[in-house]
Amino acid sequence: MASSSSSSIDLSGSTFVVLTGASQGIGRAIAVELAKCLGPKSLMLLLARNKEELAKTAELSKQDNVKVVYQSMDLSTASAKDMYDVINNALEGRKVTDFATATILHNVGSLGNLAVATERMEDVDEMRQYYDLNVFNVIKLNTQFLKIFEEVEDRIVIVNITSLCAIKAMSGMASYCSGKAAREMYFKVLAEEKKHIRVLNYSPGPVETSMIDYVLAETVNANLRDVFLSFKMQGTLLKPEMTAKKCLTVLQQGKFGPGDHVDYFDVE
Ligand SMILES: NC(=O)c1ccc[n+]([C@@H]2O[C@H](COP(=O)([O-])OP(=O)(O)OC[C@H]3O[C@@H](n4cnc5c(N)ncnc54)[C@H](OP(=O)(O)O)[C@@H]3O)[C@@H](O)[C@H]2O)c1
Repeated sequence: MASSSSSSIDLSGSTFVVLTGASQGIGRAIAVELAKCLGPKSLMLLLARNKEELAKTAELSKQDNVKVVYQSMDLSTASAKDMYDVINNALEGRKVTDFATATILHNVGSLGNLAVATERMEDVDEMRQYYDLNVFNVIKLNTQFLKIFEEVEDRIVIVNITSLCAIKAMSGMASYCSGKAAREMYFKVLAEEKKHIRVLNYSPGPVETSMIDYVLAETVNANLRDVFLSFKMQGTLLKPEMTAKKCLTVLQQGKFGPGDHVDYFDVE
């Protein structure tokens, strides 16, 4: 069961999990590693758009203790009702009080249009779409989760997958940095208000996923290209499973204050 700030978080009881961005990359690795930690009669709901890849993640996450279900959902356009229903349906009639811990991991994320220079950003519809997926609908999904588990609020654990870019400006990534900053601050405020809910902002470090290739293919910013090229050339990118394991260690050890930003490199 989740417990007060800075104490360990026990996932070895029956745990309900919602994980977004679970079809590939860091999300897939978190699903696989998290499933190993969960106690008997746990339930894990995986969300992303690509159903075939979600099915692969579900297969890779198989454990005796855990039932894994998945649903294809475009989180940039899903309504609050769609979100509420997908979580509620995943409970399969079980009561929220049946679970010792209820956790949601907001891993979904995108980079936006990297082909427009920061000083030329003016397409507000495009910016809105970016914020819809990366900020507004993360908050909206989180709210549905809070509503469903209201009765057992002190059992809720929230992990927001953030980035160094939430707290440090990175050339060529204005949408990403500002979106990550807004999203992280929302969770910090929530944590400030709801001290009995455990909230972690986990920053995974530079990880070898499709995001890296997307940056190299799309960016018009030479500095950004150089940074990411050097990550690739020097072989300093982390494997998704490395950061997923670290995320779960940080989470279970629970040595973080409400909404703290903890980076991969902060912890041994
Ligand atoms: N890779 C890094 O170096 C790095 C560093 C710091 C932070 N992060 C953060 O870590 C998280 C995961 O990143 P990643 O590198 O694993 O990226 P990724 O491989 O591109 O994975 C992104 C995930 O988000 C899902 N997604 C994207 N658009 C969606 C939509 N409209 N609706 C539903 N799901 C959607 C994708 O699934 P579908 O395409 O199937 O929908 C995919 O599962 C992100 O929040 C990212 O900002 C990554």
